Amino acid sequence: MAKVRLGIYGATGYTGFELLKLLQRHPQTELVFLTSESNAGARFSDVFACPFDYPLVSSESAPLDQIDVAFLCLPHGASMDWVRRVRQAGVRAIDLSADFRLTDPQEYRRWYKEEHKAPELLGEAVYGLTELRRDEIRTAGLVANPGCYPTTAILGLYPLVKQGLASGQVIVDAKSGVSGAGRSPSLKTHFVEAHDNFSPYNIGHVHRHIAEMEQELGRWGRPNLVRAAPLRVIFSPHLLPINQGILSTIYVQLPQPWTENELVSLYRETYAGERFIQILPPGQLATLRHTVYSNRVAISVTRPDDPSTLIVCVSEDNLIKGASGQALQNMNVMFGLEESLGLL
Ligand SMILES: NC(=O)c1ccc[n+]([C@@H]2O[C@H](COP(=O)([O-])OP(=O)(O)OC[C@H]3O[C@@H](n4cnc5c(N)ncnc54)[C@H](OP(=O)(O)O)[C@@H]3O)[C@@H](O)[C@H]2O)c1
Repeated sequence: MAKVRLGIYGATGYTGFELLKLLQRHPQTELVFLTSESNAGARFSDVFACPFDYPLVSSESAPLDQIDVAFLCLPHGASMDWVRRVRQAGVRAIDLSADFRLTDPQEYRRWYKEEHKAPELLGEAVYGLTELRRDEIRTAGLVANPGCYPTTAILGLYPLVKQGLASGQVIVDAKSGVSGAGRSPSLKTHFVEAHDNFSPYNIGHVHRHIAEMEQELGRWGRPNLVRAAPLRVIFSPHLLPINQGILSTIYVQLPQPWTENELVSLYRETYAGERFIQILPPGQLATLRHTVYSNRVAISVTRPDDPSTLIVCVSEDNLIKGASGQALQNMNVMFGLEESLGLL
């Protein structure tokens, strides 16, 4: 079988580097180019302390005619221009930015405060949460890889939403390692500000990731089974003084009492056969240790004394299942490869 030929735009960011690490153990890919604007002409090993001695080229000079798929590890707003060029060249695209996650350009403007520059491509983009959209991803020309926080929230709530057990308001209280903010330094991610500290930011209904959480969860709701209230996510992200990992603790009011064992069974049935999703037994709680440095998601389900409240804990590695690992999982699906190739 011919290898999948690929290029990475924005290879010198954290998601690009993580993808490059994963590709080292992928037997069915051939790396054709890595782009960087500020380091074009240098070698990758000049930019990161690592042994990867690949050349870096500018996006303009990347040989698009030599690849089957492009990974775009670029900031939102910058990515859409390159996605358009990639698609015009007839190449499949996996975009790690937020540019193609929202189906409605008005919603993009509302949450990202800028006009969408390639709205004609929104219709062909498939939201790449692999476990939920696998069949569409198989044939997609453009995959919009999910955000890191939304991957935890959507996977944690999906079994309930699909069963008609979650509607109205849910609370997602999430903590992320500092790599979630990307490699460019800022005051918030400065060592002295982030280290030995633990801070909430953008709490309430303001963080941009809420848009994709509500959009994608709305896709699976069964309003005829519940009191027809669309899901509204109250989202409280926090900055954890660690490099990578996300833990989201999700609070849901159930419309009817379920036992913890019944709920664990519901989650296990929903994700039966999913090798990257681990549903913990009753009494155990998901932690970062369950998932960091892997493509796995760990989910625990706890029902406290109040039988109508449910607490779901979801952990993942923001750079792997929350970004580059899921992107590679999607590439495997798109090219008919074993879905776990290159992934732990
Ligand atoms: N970090 C995470 O945990 C995570 C998780 C999920 C999704 N994402 C998304 O994935 C994308 C990449 O994230 P990241 O954390 O890897 O970001 P990052 O560390 O800031 O890296 C961004 C990359 O984009 C390049 N770049 C910056 N501005 C550019 C422009 N105007 N045109 C072309 N290239 C440009 C940079 O290269 P040069 O400066 O060398 O040119 C760098 O290689 C973002 O959209 C982010 O929201 C990130």
